[in-house]
Amino acid sequence: MFLLLFILLSAVSVVADDISPGSTLYASNPEQSWNSPNNSFSLSFIQESENTYFAAIIYNGNPIWKAGGDPGGAVDSSAALRFLPDGNLQLVAGSTGSLVWQSGTSGLGITSASLEDSGNFVLKNGSFPIWTTFDNPTDTILPGQNFTVDHVLRCGLYSFRLLRSGVALQWNDSIVYYTSSGINTTGSLNLTSPSLGMQPVGIFSLYDPLLLTPVIMARDIDYGEVIDNTLRFVKLDCDGNMRIYSSAMSSGRGSKVVTWTAVSDQCQVFGYCGRFGVCRYDEFNVNPTCSCPSENFDPIDPRDARKGCKRKVEIQGCQTTMLSLNNALFLTFQPEISSDLFTANIRACPSLCLADTSCVASTSLADGTGVCYMKRSAFISGYQSPTFTSTSYVKVCEPAMPNPPFSSSRSDKKSEALKIAVVVLGCSLALVILVVGFLWLYRRSKPKYESLLPHYSVSDYASGVPVQFSYKELQRETKGFKEKLGEGGFGCVYKGTLSNKMAVAVKQLEGIGQGEKQFRMEVATISSTHHLNLVRLIGFCSEGRHRLLVYEFMKNGSLDSFLFTSKDKNVLNWAHRYSIALGTARGIMYLHEECRDCILHCDIKPENILLDENYNARISDFGLAKLLNLNDHKHRSLITVRGTRGYLAPEWAANLPITSKADVYSYGMVLLEIVSGKRNFEVSPATNHKKFTLWAYEEFEKGNIEGVLDKQLIESDIDMVQAMRVIKVSFWCIQERPSFRPTMGKVVQMLEGIADIHKPPPPVALVEGSAPASSVYSSQMSAISSLASE
Ligand SMILES: *[C@@H]1O[C@H](CO)[C@@H](O)[C@H](O)[C@H]1NC(C)=O
Ligand SMILES: *[C@@H]1O[C@H](CO)[C@@H](O)[C@H](O)[C@H]1NC(C)=O
Ligand SMILES: *[C@@H]1O[C@H](CO)[C@@H](O)[C@H](O)[C@H]1NC(C)=O
Ligand SMILES: *[C@@H]1O[C@H](CO)[C@@H](O)[C@H](O)[C@H]1NC(C)=O
Ligand SMILES: *[C@@H]1O[C@H](CO)[C@@H](O)[C@H](O)[C@H]1NC(C)=O
Ligand SMILES: *[C@@H]1O[C@H](CO)[C@@H](O)[C@H](O)[C@H]1NC(C)=O
Repeated sequence: MFLLLFILLSAVSVVADDISPGSTLYASNPEQSWNSPNNSFSLSFIQESENTYFAAIIYNGNPIWKAGGDPGGAVDSSAALRFLPDGNLQLVAGSTGSLVWQSGTSGLGITSASLEDSGNFVLKNGSFPIWTTFDNPTDTILPGQNFTVDHVLRCGLYSFRLLRSGVALQWNDSIVYYTSSGINTTGSLNLTSPSLGMQPVGIFSLYDPLLLTPVIMARDIDYGEVIDNTLRFVKLDCDGNMRIYSSAMSSGRGSKVVTWTAVSDQCQVFGYCGRFGVCRYDEFNVNPTCSCPSENFDPIDPRDARKGCKRKVEIQGCQTTMLSLNNALFLTFQPEISSDLFTANIRACPSLCLADTSCVASTSLADGTGVCYMKRSAFISGYQSPTFTSTSYVKVCEPAMPNPPFSSSRSDKKSEALKIAVVVLGCSLALVILVVGFLWLYRRSKPKYESLLPHYSVSDYASGVPVQFSYKELQRETKGFKEKLGEGGFGCVYKGTLSNKMAVAVKQLEGIGQGEKQFRMEVATISSTHHLNLVRLIGFCSEGRHRLLVYEFMKNGSLDSFLFTSKDKNVLNWAHRYSIALGTARGIMYLHEECRDCILHCDIKPENILLDENYNARISDFGLAKLLNLNDHKHRSLITVRGTRGYLAPEWAANLPITSKADVYSYGMVLLEIVSGKRNFEVSPATNHKKFTLWAYEEFEKGNIEGVLDKQLIESDIDMVQAMRVIKVSFWCIQERPSFRPTMGKVVQMLEGIADIHKPPPPVALVEGSAPASSVYSSQMSAISSLASE
């Protein structure tokens, strides 16, 4: 027994630190490995799918280097990794042992190899390293690894490299779809020998002799909470995105958590859906999905929509036409813009392309700029979202087939359900007509049909007990959901008038897969939450799939319309702004600290701050986040995507626990917007091409408070003491670390001048580059910012 165990163990791993030439690993024996001295890293074959293997360096089940890269190094079970006596490391496959990849180190005097505790695999002459995996990376950068201009990370067509101007994610080595916009926006960089490094604590920085201090590219947001045996690494994933991962041995083999993502909107990664593929988010707004533009196209691989599409009939020599795609754009990047940018209206844009034989597709931004992009490259990458104003066109052979409705899977289910419904309805209709006819005849003798309608007195609405409405009633009271007041993360809001003439706002909730009972419980909580600065819930409807909430109507609409599109509205004066800031803070404080259960809002933004006839701030949508279970990962990401990007605290993206401090962060962003009249994520020449918040902090540091304030405010009107307080409080609230942010109670005291306010540190310790690939996009910014402000 002991002997057997011993034989097994010695077969399983080579215990010695050094691997001698002549050693071989076989894919058919994945138990075999070359390990680092303390066993945290190992080099062995891993099986990725049924017949796909890679020879990889692994940490806690995660490959961090692959011989030959991905997919180049993919082999089958016949493969072997050989460390030859001449010093060459070879990956061979097949019965003939054909060469898949090699280190090319024969004849360099290599005498041994070892996998170090840092994860670096080294081929050495004695103790002198000749070839290392750190110097020949595939898709990952580890702490201690020095990534320089000579290095490239790759997966498929995607690559990551350092340029003299900074970092770049590229598609097919040509299209740059992400640069670090945060590095130095005042002047274009001309670095001499840039290098990147990852520190064990998860700070990923750019070094260069020209930079006095390293510039932080990205940081793992775990607030320095270093857990033992946690490895942080930067990886270029095969979906074209770059992420920082954290893998803790204690969380189990293969576990890893994303703590930073370069391109926050996956559909903005060029070519994510392949050639002619169109990217859009699924019905829960969580996962990017790929599809073909229309029936004029076939998927290249029906099992993998990311492979892209091909035309059913090639356009050479056929009668061509332009297929139109609503709310869609084709991703456009700077190098190709100048020659393909036209000014043409939405009707001329497709005609221009049709008339030009080299043009494949076009996009009309339709945002008032008259911008029309012509796409001449064979590879186009689409993005469709209901928030885009743009319309795109693809050249196809006649006839252009209709493109599938917005969410094809959902509508299929719908039409299926419709068919059944029609059959059932048909059967029941006869019966219903009989019964109704009978009833009508009977009721005719009664005095008034009106009395059949539910009737509530004003006191019913005011009592705080939520009124239950039927769907039909609400349909009638909103005139068939005719007048849309707005659209938020949870659904659309319509204006309605109750039978007692009271004006209401009716919110049609979407994507709340809730049981009836739980929904009623939440409604009860929401409607029992009363505060001067909260919008009151009057009633609800829960019928079949329908979930609606009825709120009191706020005459002056939402704060965003005053702050950002003030042309047709009065400019809010200073006194109003200050009182709105304070009122909002009091409302949130009530939710956090004074309610029976702490209610996290999770979606504080100007769109959710309504103004009554006296311009008092009234917060709406509170209590709704609770309808989605926050601990459930899927729902978290739902909020992350639905929640408006500029207002979401970094904890959301980092998958860290959400506390009331997440609301404080969002409130801080709103506060800055109230005084500046600018979106916090706005980037413009006026802000030195930096995010407004970063720019505002710099101006604040310089003592230029006036520069931060809204230019539309009348100077003599502004109380500068209050303004200073508001700005300082906002910078405290938007601190990256939750523990640095004050509580809402403290915020109220600071705003009122009761508590002292110390000078806030910079919100983000150092500039990082995770802005949504903004510097790369030009006119698409309009589409993107409308996406961001959803
Ligand atoms: C390898 O190391 C030995 C001894 O240090 C040295 O003599 C030899 O030149 C080295 N070979 C190469 C190719 O560098
Ligand atoms: C292995 O060694 C590395 C480097 O010395 C160290 O960071 C790591 O914590 C060690 N891992 C284990 C499991 O001891
Ligand atoms: C990385 O390598 C470059 C070039 O070899 C070197 O100049 C630089 O100092 C190294 N950086 C670090 C942090 O080791
Ligand atoms: C990538 O670029 C090469 C050369 O620039 C080109 O030949 C090739 O077709 C491109 N690949 C795709 C998928 O467009
Ligand atoms: C940013 O660019 C400006 C102008 O080129 C330069 O003066 C400054 O030193 C740069 N800052 C950093 C951190 O590289
Ligand atoms: C960057 O500097 C090098 C020399 O230091 C120079 O040759 C090159 O033209 C510069 N590039 C830009 C874009 O300024």
